[in-house]
Amino acid sequence: MISAPPIRLATRADAAAIAAMSREYIEHGLPWSWRTGRVARAIDDPNTNVVVVGPPEALAAFGIMGYLDEDAHLLLFAVHHGQRRQGIGSAVLGWLEDVARAAGSKRIRVEARRDNVAARNFYGEHGYHELAITQAMYSGVLDGIRLEKWLRANA
Ligand SMILES: CC(C)(COP(=O)(O)OP(=O)(O)OC[C@H]1O[C@@H](n2cnc3c(N)ncnc32)[C@H](O)[C@@H]1OP(=O)(O)O)[C@@H](O)C(=O)NCCC(=O)NCCS
Repeated sequence: MISAPPIRLATRADAAAIAAMSREYIEHGLPWSWRTGRVARAIDDPNTNVVVVGPPEALAAFGIMGYLDEDAHLLLFAVHHGQRRQGIGSAVLGWLEDVARAAGSKRIRVEARRDNVAARNFYGEHGYHELAITQAMYSGVLDGIRLEKWLRANA
């Protein structure tokens, strides 16, 4: 574990690097949907938080969380492959969860590929429960798993 990495809100200057990380680490083998323009729209969206670690030319990590009513949705999340298992992902997730709590969210939802053992372990370590496997969730070809974490009691 390294000391807490500085986490900052993304600007449009980070959009291309986030999109490239999404293609390499998350959307590999699938159509590339999180391109620079879509990431830039998320950065501009008042109902979405995009956070990063590191400078735009050398991002260590990013996370994108959207807020809708009482649910928050972790849309996209990755750590640079050379900087994993150092607590960076945990720090970014914790930052986003703190904001979701402060915003009054009851629950955080997230999806991952069924075969993504690292992500399933990671989210499990952070209190996310696996809800259901959905066949062909990703572009009709890859199975996905839906997870959720309750931030406060479900009244
Ligand atoms: C999943 C991911 C974000 C984790 O980031 P990270 O910075 O390595 O995570 P941390 O160092 O904070 O790990 C916290 C804990 O999660 C678990 N974990 C993380 N990576 C793991 C792996 N590859 N295998 C098993 N458990 C893992 C471990 O319990 C770990 O604690 P430990 O290192 O003390 O054993 C990173 O592997 C990643 O970017 N993967 C590719 C993109 C992706 O899958 N994104 C999520 C789905 S959208």
